[in-house]
Amino acid sequence: MSLINNLIQNAISLLNQDQIIGIPTETVYGLAGNIYSSKAIQSIFSMKQRPFFNPLIVHIKSVNDLSEIARDIPEKALLLAAAFWPGPLTLVLKKQTAIPDLVTGGKDTVAVRVPNHPLILALLNQLEYPLAAPSANPFGCISPTEARHVAGYFKDLLPMVLDGGACGRGIESTIIGFENEEPVLYRLGSLALEDIEAVVGTVKIITHDDIAPAAPGMLSRHYAPLTTTVLTTDVPELLDTFLGKKIGVLVFQNEICNPKIVEQEILSHTGNLPEAASKLYAALHRLDKCNLDLIIAERFPDVGLGKTINDRLQRATKK
Ligand code: TXA
Ligand code: MG
Repeated sequence: MSLINNLIQNAISLLNQDQIIGIPTETVYGLAGNIYSSKAIQSIFSMKQRPFFNPLIVHIKSVNDLSEIARDIPEKALLLAAAFWPGPLTLVLKKQTAIPDLVTGGKDTVAVRVPNHPLILALLNQLEYPLAAPSANPFGCISPTEARHVAGYFKDLLPMVLDGGACGRGIESTIIGFENEEPVLYRLGSLALEDIEAVVGTVKIITHDDIAPAAPGMLSRHYAPLTTTVLTTDVPELLDTFLGKKIGVLVFQNEICNPKIVEQEILSHTGNLPEAASKLYAALHRLDKCNLDLIIAERFPDVGLGKTINDRLQRATKK
């Protein structure tokens, strides 16, 4: 049996015993458990220190399993699933009664996606149930994009973290719900809004300012480093205002030469937004470990994944 197959068999046996494990997806690492095991789901909430009213995403192996999870599925949801699954798109749909309230936070809707990573797909294909998996970070912290980030957060608490390498997308899935069968954006993510609109037309955007947070990803402070972080369109100008501070900067494309900078993260030398998105969290994890007084992040162009990156950076600045 190959090493990978061995790991998958171990993962299956742990999940079948109501345990939770760290798993890779194409977006971020997740803390996964059997959706029908209340023991596993409770462990996910307590390990994340996440309030019970914040529902989890159900991960299925294929769109063919969708009718087991959701009902009254809008036509545009099916179009989106056909276009983007497996991939970084989560759909919020009316739930089937069999889906436990613990998973959906008591809501009558359920969030569901088909992830696109060979390890989690191999796992799902051999399991008899879907996996609930929130991002594998304590509530409010930066999401993990490498197995060692998960181990760093949960150390001995997890029996296993399946190491699938660095996540290709690096930012959580985009979440789309429906109002009167029409798509509504709940969370910007690693699928660009423009790509979604190319399939289903205009999508109404509900930001965290418009409604009480239906999703933790909509809470304004989320995905945050411990180090104080500020966001600006003009990093050199802001640097000028600080004296005697240990400053790290995070920029899109061009290095900034300034003796005040002690650490610098450049997310894409070629100005490629998907590349920058894939590197964002790992760069924040690194900067957060440098004992800095301040992180100054450069605002990204407000198009495509630049919107998602700005959204996450904006939340990282909240205290
Ligand atoms: O990329 C991702 O989506 C990752 C990977 C592991 O799949 N998962 C992830 O899960 O980001 P989590 O738990 O960190 O974020 C799930 C988001 C939360 O903001 C939650 O409130 C929202 O999905 N959500 C879940 N069910 C919902 C529902 N019924 N209505 C509205 N929002 C919902
Ligand atoms: Mg999360």
